[in-house]
Amino acid sequence: METIDQIRLKPATMSLLSQKWVDWLNDIEVVRFSNQRNQMHTLDSQREFLTRKLNDPSSKLFGIFFACAHIGMVELGNINPERDSAEVRYLIGEKTLWGKGIASFVVKKMVEMSRELQTIKLLEAGADTRNTGSIKVLLKNGFQPAHEKDDIQWFRKVI
Ligand SMILES: CC(C)(COP(=O)(O)OP(=O)(O)OC[C@H]1O[C@@H](n2cnc3c(N)ncnc32)[C@H](O)[C@@H]1OP(=O)(O)O)[C@@H](O)C(=O)NCCC(=O)NCCS
Repeated sequence: METIDQIRLKPATMSLLSQKWVDWLNDIEVVRFSNQRNQMHTLDSQREFLTRKLNDPSSKLFGIFFACAHIGMVELGNINPERDSAEVRYLIGEKTLWGKGIASFVVKKMVEMSRELQTIKLLEAGADTRNTGSIKVLLKNGFQPAHEKDDIQWFRKVI
């Protein structure tokens, strides 16, 4: 079966917390283009992060699963009812699965979900200017380059 056919998104719960997730965040290759690279991550720090996200009405966090295995995270964050906007953030932690179209598919799902919600009219996303993979993911999903600030290229998509 195609990789994409086996991708599922599940709303995050505390059961997602695992050493595997912590290891992704401490892997310099995975976080090379993220602020996460400046911190040491632990199960405790991730428990705190997850607790905060699960209690945050401006965040919808999902686990990305491939063939039932947790392989990454995607978030509609900074949901702002005044601007009808949200920010898409994603991480495929399993490096062996990079380049198979997973992030492109996941962002497409986030766009569809935002449309269905009908309360989000603008999606934004930021990618390090060197993060070719992430930039391609956004362009493939019809995001338009907006401004650049502190080496982050911001993109927007009106939905
Ligand atoms: C960047 C990332 C999200 C890409 O995910 P992915 O599932 O590999 O992306 P896709 O397979 O959908 O790739 C989309 C395109 O980018 C290309 N691509 C992916 N990774 C790439 C890389 N490191 N360098 C160059 N191109 C890359 C793919 O070949 C594909 O190109 P194509 O459409 O011309 O075939 C993933 O590597 C990742 O999660 N990295 C760590 C966290 C991160 O950087 N998150 C994004 C923060 S903005």
